[in-house]
Amino acid sequence: MTPVLSIKNLSIDFLTSGGPVHALREVNLCIPQNRIVGIVGESGSGKSTVVSAVIRLLANNADVRSGEIEFEGRDILAMSEIELRTLRGEEIAMVFQDPMTAQTPVLSIGQQMIDIQYRRSLSRKEKRQKAIDMLTRVGIPDPSDRMDQYPHQFSGGMRQRISIAMSLMMSPKLLIADEPTTALDVTLEAQIIHLFRELRKSFDGSIVLVSHNLGLIAELCDEVVVMYAGEVVERATVDDIFNRAAHPYTQALLDCDPARLDELTAKLPTITGDVPDLQGIPAGCIFASRCNQKLEQCTFNRPPAFTITESHDVCCHLMRND
Ligand SMILES: Nc1ncnc2c1ncn2[C@@H]1O[C@H](COP(=O)(O)OP(=O)(O)OP(=O)(O)O)[C@@H](O)[C@H]1O
Ligand SMILES: [Mg+2]
Repeated sequence: MTPVLSIKNLSIDFLTSGGPVHALREVNLCIPQNRIVGIVGESGSGKSTVVSAVIRLLANNADVRSGEIEFEGRDILAMSEIELRTLRGEEIAMVFQDPMTAQTPVLSIGQQMIDIQYRRSLSRKEKRQKAIDMLTRVGIPDPSDRMDQYPHQFSGGMRQRISIAMSLMMSPKLLIADEPTTALDVTLEAQIIHLFRELRKSFDGSIVLVSHNLGLIAELCDEVVVMYAGEVVERATVDDIFNRAAHPYTQALLDCDPARLDELTAKLPTITGDVPDLQGIPAGCIFASRCNQKLEQCTFNRPPAFTITESHDVCCHLMRND
């Protein structure tokens, strides 16, 4: 079955006055149909850069050095502006971190939800009904009354649910959510998590979920991609990542998850050392300077992806069995 999305050897630099920042290096990623794939990794690991590249909404100083991004076999990097508009509006939907900037402040929610159906040959009344149905589906109470309200009349959690409703209006084949709960407080975060749980049952498409919340990733995702400093270091089923993580970075990330600590501690563990400077990429393994299981070759020899099982790859010399 053709994957919905396939990324091959994607390398992206950001050009800055201090020189190029090598934000992504030879990233490979495959999103199968009807699967939920989580992307995890510390801040700065390149998660947003990958998902922004998929909808071609990278910052102006981005330079795609090499690679391919295919959506259902079509080359996204070669698409014209017109093709991209259709792609973003109808085939790939994106939910961003900050719900406060997702809607236009000057139009009612209902108007915005009717406007995004502009390609559909339905009457205004039918479009309005579709919008109300979608608001009901994402759990907005009294949706027909609230259609006439403006974004500022909704809480952050509701606005994020409205963003998700708007994304779902066009029945996209791929929904990308980049940290959809990070900007929300705990109660509102719980509402969005609940919504994703519901979507897991009813959404007919694939989802890419970028999140720092490992509990959420464990619960919702089928597969997990672990990124570190611009590279994919491990990829596996959710069960393998959480129970048989092979990369020392993945193991460290799980060890630092507050939700997985047995006892409440005043001081949360962190991975010691700093993420390398992405302007001068060291030879060898990108995690070597922080790795507690480092071998001699790790500092000068970049590990290729080793296949543990068909669904589990890891870029780490510890996997080499010769
Ligand atoms: N426009 C830009 N110009 C220069 N550097 C950038 C730009 N955008 C991102 N970067 C750098 O690229 C790297 C990857 O950033 P990215 O935002 O993709 O990380 P992330 O994994 O999404 O992090 P977070 O968890 O904080 O959202 C970081 O080192 C970041 O500083
Ligand atoms: Mg990000």
